[in-house]
Amino acid sequence: MITSAGENAFDYLLDKPNSIDCVDINPYQNYLFDLKCGLYKNNQSELLSELFLTGKTSHYRSVFQEVKRYLKEDSEIFWDHRIHWFSTNKGFYNQALTGKFAALLNFILDKKGLRSKIEQLIVEESLQKRKEIFSTVEHTLWKGISKNIWKSDFVLGLAGIPNNQKESVADLNNYMRRTLRNLFVNQGAKDNYFWRLYLLGGYTYDCKPNYLHEIHFNTIRDQISKLKVYNNSITDHLNTSKKKYSHFILLDHQDWMIGNGTNELENEWVNILRRSTPKAKILFRSVHTGLDILPDFVVKKTTRIPIDENYLNENDRVGTYPSTLLLEVNV
Ligand SMILES: C[S@@+](CC[C@H](N)C(=O)[O-])C[C@H]1O[C@@H](n2cnc3c(N)ncnc32)[C@H](O)[C@@H]1O
Repeated sequence: MITSAGENAFDYLLDKPNSIDCVDINPYQNYLFDLKCGLYKNNQSELLSELFLTGKTSHYRSVFQEVKRYLKEDSEIFWDHRIHWFSTNKGFYNQALTGKFAALLNFILDKKGLRSKIEQLIVEESLQKRKEIFSTVEHTLWKGISKNIWKSDFVLGLAGIPNNQKESVADLNNYMRRTLRNLFVNQGAKDNYFWRLYLLGGYTYDCKPNYLHEIHFNTIRDQISKLKVYNNSITDHLNTSKKKYSHFILLDHQDWMIGNGTNELENEWVNILRRSTPKAKILFRSVHTGLDILPDFVVKKTTRIPIDENYLNENDRVGTYPSTLLLEVNV
């Protein structure tokens, strides 16, 4: 699977798999994951929460001293210079590009006087009341210069959305309007730790990813040796690895290759199919709808397993991908 920030890998460990290889082309994602894994290996759930619940602690140095013996050499060097990101001044969740994106969203909300409405909207239990609050928020948000936020390459770059992903959605403004309505009105964001982090700056005791829940700590810690982490692209990893895999969790990263004028996408699929066990499952998501993004040989050699739309509407926390695709390798 793609490492990304590692939460997904921890989630899959709860299923007690035989092993998981986490691969990411961006070593910083792996360093972040290594820090979280180090906190598990150190076996003190309080220290894990101390760093990652709010991303802010005055004890960041002493936590690092405790945990650094469990880190890989390159990630220890990385964190030694950056552990102050967890200081109470700014906090970890306001760092780097995602932090800047969150800061921009929050700047707009504050400037437009929407802060208290957003806070109400997130915790409101009644669907009817959420509808009413959202109508006011939506009206103010989609007025003036802020209505163009989703058109700016710079802003989307901060959110990690590359140009070719953006260009695949015909009317991004309308698309984001519908997405936010579904998330904040229909689903309700009370338990949505993903958007809560963006808008309120941290997790809470009740609203946080599985890996920060005390009840999962021992299970994840006992399984942690099943994880292996690789700084590599999926294609190069599969090219060098001799293993066969029963599951591939690819997130949205193929969108970055679609229509970029190279054969990277085809190459990756050749390697995925070469390295898959019979009936292997491949899960990914995309801003594109339908299977026409896939090379023909993939469509021929796999079968699409339908995922219930209602299930997705109710459970997708990110909410910004129109397609979630599950394929099964034919033989
Ligand atoms: C941040 S995730 C996007 C997650 C997205 N929000 C989601 O939930 O689907 C994309 C990750 O894929 C990684 N990535 C992109 N292209 C890759 C490739 N060819 N091989 C391995 N990792 C890749 C990026 O470094 C990043 O960590």
